[in-house]
Amino acid sequence: MTARSSLTVVLAAGEGTRMRSALPKVLHPVAGQPLLSHVLDAAPHGPGASLAVVIGPDHQAVADEVMRERPDAAIFIQAERLGTAHAVLAARDAIARGADDLLVAFGDTPLISAATFARLRAPLENGAALAVLGFRAADPTGYGRLLLEGDRLVAIREHADASAEERKVTLCNAGVMAFDGRRALEILDRIGNANSKREYYLVDAVSIVREMGLEAVVIETGEDEVRGINNKAQLAEAETVMQARLRKAALDAGVTLVAPETVYLATDTKFGRDVTIEPFVVIGPGVTIEDGAVIHSFSHIVQSSIGKKALVGPFARLRPGVSLGEGAKIGNFVEAKASTLEAGVKVNHLSYIGDTHIGASSNIGAGTITCNYDGFSKHKTLIGEGAFVGTNSSLVAPVKIGKGAYIGSGSVITKDVPDDALAVERSQQTTREGGAKRFREMKTRAKKPKEG
Ligand code: UD1
Ligand code: MG
Repeated sequence: MTARSSLTVVLAAGEGTRMRSALPKVLHPVAGQPLLSHVLDAAPHGPGASLAVVIGPDHQAVADEVMRERPDAAIFIQAERLGTAHAVLAARDAIARGADDLLVAFGDTPLISAATFARLRAPLENGAALAVLGFRAADPTGYGRLLLEGDRLVAIREHADASAEERKVTLCNAGVMAFDGRRALEILDRIGNANSKREYYLVDAVSIVREMGLEAVVIETGEDEVRGINNKAQLAEAETVMQARLRKAALDAGVTLVAPETVYLATDTKFGRDVTIEPFVVIGPGVTIEDGAVIHSFSHIVQSSIGKKALVGPFARLRPGVSLGEGAKIGNFVEAKASTLEAGVKVNHLSYIGDTHIGASSNIGAGTITCNYDGFSKHKTLIGEGAFVGTNSSLVAPVKIGKGAYIGSGSVITKDVPDDALAVERSQQTTREGGAKRFREMKTRAKKPKEG
């Protein structure tokens, strides 16, 4: 932990044309979270750490995402895309406040870690004016090359401007840089656009720092951490890297993943002890799984909390807002959303449970549907504790089933059922005794001799 103050400027003004999408590039998700918010998460946080994000014009959706993720951030608009140094200077007002360290990161490199930002800042404390994040590229085509004299960094050459000899260099610019905050504006203002693309290149900061008689250094990291996303294939590769990290972290934390490569996790998935996840499970953002819970195969879970020893699936879908109490069970082909199931509740098969509260230990029979939507608005279903809902029942919300109540199978419940009451309500107007009486009648008829 350093006591130095910092400003991180995240560049996100690019159009991302190669994504071939209406969605701004930095809003495409990796592990269920926009590219940009991964970078914002990794950037320094807390007291003394400020943040500025540079976005393109007409990118209100990007601004909204920044505000959701980091309400403390300042947003700057780069009206014209004249290069990475020009983009950084869009945040001039924030830079002029003079934090100790100025960090520059790209909004399309989601795999960068907080530890790497910290490593990059360390040389500034020792007097360097600039630290550049470098990596050894398997294929350096397109990247800026880091040019060294001995072990001194002297320049970065963009691919387009590099000589044949320079193009052989595999040590590349990751794009992330840390500047001495008090000198940053002076350095950035000296950057010109005398290159093949007529752009203001941030990378020119290195040779300028040298001309000023100051020190520039390289900090190396692995290629996986600095993958930039420019197209859908690279987005998919980043997902693969991120999922591998998340699975490893889950395994290290003691989660049993029977077939880790088939399980998809989100960056904020929280696990208790002795959680088991069977093959082919997808977990989206906002999921907590407590001690001893088991998620069976082919389940899909988003923004929900799974209580201790609860069981989910196989083939279950938990949409946002589901809370399962201790030992609750959601079985196969059950969909639930915005519902609380208290401890020990069982919804074992083929149900839809929406906008519902179910008291402890109630049993919801196969095929039970909460009819929460009347075509205009959503309504709530309340089921007291210890209730029994027979199979294939429709609970037409708003409706309340009292605690300990018993609903006969096939009922269509449109009125509240008091505590401990028996309700058998069928649209086909069968009798209260239901099948038993009809069965007896049928048998009696069958005994009569045939006429004719
Ligand atoms: C940049 C680096 C290159 C490095 C590579 C790593 C420069 C000049 N080049 O090249 O050395 O190896 O990243 O991936 O810095 N942006 C703006 N406004 C602009 C231009 C860019 O906001 O006017 C943003 C983009 O949205 C993107 C980032 O800056 O997030 C990098 O721009 P990009 O055009 O992708 O640079 P590269 O050619 O990849
Ligand atoms: Mg790029």
